[in-house]
Amino acid sequence: MHKMTVEFLMNAFAGESQAHVKYAIFAEECEKKGHKNLANMFKAISHAEYVHARGHFLAVGKLGDTAMNLQTALDGENFEIDEMYPVYHEAAKFQQEKDAVRTTKYAMEAEKIHANMYAKALELVKSGKDYPAAKVHICEICGHTVENEAPDKCPVCNAKKDFFRCFSA
Ligand SMILES: [Fe+2]
Ligand SMILES: [Fe+2]
Repeated sequence: MHKMTVEFLMNAFAGESQAHVKYAIFAEECEKKGHKNLANMFKAISHAEYVHARGHFLAVGKLGDTAMNLQTALDGENFEIDEMYPVYHEAAKFQQEKDAVRTTKYAMEAEKIHANMYAKALELVKSGKDYPAAKVHICEICGHTVENEAPDKCPVCNAKKDFFRCFSA
């Protein structure tokens, strides 16, 4: 594929990915206000943007086999842990931006766990095995990630157990 087309598609991928997340957040706001149909509209269009993002991603040939995908995921998390979030977090502290200090801390802590999970999964996949945990719990407040059983209290943000969302295989 031409270099320019790759760049354009990756820009479109970034834009569609952001729209996907933004509309999902807007849908949550509508749900809280009780606007059911509006919430549904945002959710549906959010999914359409995901479909577009996926299309661009596949067209560029970014999808690998499972081991390659795990390596890509691991590299991304490691960049966030080692370079991106430490710098963003320090900058937020320097500028006394409380909310940014908190959200960068939350993300940085969760990414460390994600990197460990991806590294473990990569080793297992190389020897032809599936991931051992069938359940993963995500804290809706900070994104803290726990396998198998949700903790009584989130160790990162202190949210109660009810705030964990369970993803079950
Ligand atoms: Fe992550
Ligand atoms: Fe949390």
